[in-house]
Amino acid sequence: AIERTLSIIKPDAVAKNVIGKIYSRFEEAGLKIVAARMVQLSRAEAEGFYAVHAARPFFKDLVEFMISGPVMVTALEGEGAILKNRDLMGATDPKKADAGTIRADFADSIDANAVHGSDAAETAAVEIAYYFPALNVYSR
Ligand code: CMP
Repeated sequence: AIERTLSIIKPDAVAKNVIGKIYSRFEEAGLKIVAARMVQLSRAEAEGFYAVHAARPFFKDLVEFMISGPVMVTALEGEGAILKNRDLMGATDPKKADAGTIRADFADSIDANAVHGSDAAETAAVEIAYYFPALNVYSR
């Protein structure tokens, strides 16, 4: 089915100047960019986005990292977009990510892991709505 998923290029990858390289991987895999915005997240925005992880021991470091610089927030659309994006990203921990994945190629650590991607259809809808009003998602 045609799905949408939320991608965030995290501060480490933005700082490395690889937004375009990561976008190319999405496009070459048949995913279309249907919304995009560069944003310096506030602490409240980062905490709200990752609220599901609020009780986890890594939460504070995760929020600190996500507000350490601008991120590129992008909605992707395409056949099986959620799983396709997760396959392109590779494992959360770059040490465990398969060769040729975004995290294997661009990430430094489990915190500075280059990209975020929605993990399921329900979270994708919530995450896209968190950053983009419906009228700013240009399905095509
Ligand atoms: P992300 O997909 O953005 O979702 C939550 C983030 O928490 C995750 O990527 C990692 O960057 C970060 N994180 C840090 N430690 C862990 C951990 N032990 N398990 C899962 N995520 C972690």
